[in-house]
Amino acid sequence: MSASAVTLLNPTTRADADASAPVGIFDSGLGGLSVLRAVRAVLPHERLIYVADSLHAPYGEKDDDFIVDRTLAIGEWLVAQGAKALVVACNTATAQSIALVRERLPIPLVGVEPGIKPATAVSKSRVVGVLATQVTLRSARFQSLLDRYAADCRFILQPGHGLVQAVERCDTSSPQLMALLESYLAPMLDAHADTLVLGCTHYPFLDRAIREIAGERLHIIDTSVAIARQLDRLLDAHTLKHAASPDTDNVPRFCSTADGESQRQLAASLLQIDAPVEHVSIPSRRTRLAEPDIA
Ligand code: DGL
Repeated sequence: MSASAVTLLNPTTRADADASAPVGIFDSGLGGLSVLRAVRAVLPHERLIYVADSLHAPYGEKDDDFIVDRTLAIGEWLVAQGAKALVVACNTATAQSIALVRERLPIPLVGVEPGIKPATAVSKSRVVGVLATQVTLRSARFQSLLDRYAADCRFILQPGHGLVQAVERCDTSSPQLMALLESYLAPMLDAHADTLVLGCTHYPFLDRAIREIAGERLHIIDTSVAIARQLDRLLDAHTLKHAASPDTDNVPRFCSTADGESQRQLAASLLQIDAPVEHVSIPSRRTRLAEPDIA
């Protein structure tokens, strides 16, 4: 059974859902743009709204309640903007809050999780490296995923401290970043890992840097395309797929809780999407008092 079979049955689907409405995609910051890239390739007709909560990134170093609070607030904001479905394009937010968000939001949703299963399918050495945030690695959801596959595979778990912050600065190749990445990959390579799971949606933007360090020694598992296909099945199951041809340039609506400058740069350089980024204010119980004014 595919993971999507679980996602398809959302009893709370809005009765007034409209196939021409946009799909909401959300991440703590810019990482979900790697998922957006795959969604655009698999579902070119869909209109997309992307929210980066960059003002509050990284989530991987926040407490669990904060992550649940932000995920719910942004999900509700996207529903208010008319989203017909939601992709929680953040492993950390999925790990901490997907069950609650699924229960509370009236639209179908897709979460993401590290590609442990596909890694075990390709690893020959049976040693697999997993790079993810500390919050994801210590979550009960991830631990139970690991337990299902740990019998015949050894997993080397590495929190990627500092990597989300680097991508948020659009740094995908500086000497400091390369040294940090090397310090995370060297123990995996020494232990003869042949597969690396990218368990955070920011990390696919570091694939070139990883290749530079590890060459062809690591098979990289990035689940962006699998997530986009799962969204495709979900929309089909809810008869929410947008069948019409898009406008000539179906540019996503980009939103950020920060000033959006890095988002604009990263989308232009790595996704070849030149689009403005709207500043949006999405207060929540934990941040209401701390939201600055950004012109
Ligand atoms: N892209 C998020 C993820 O997949 C990054 C989390 C963070 O902000 O630390 O986990």
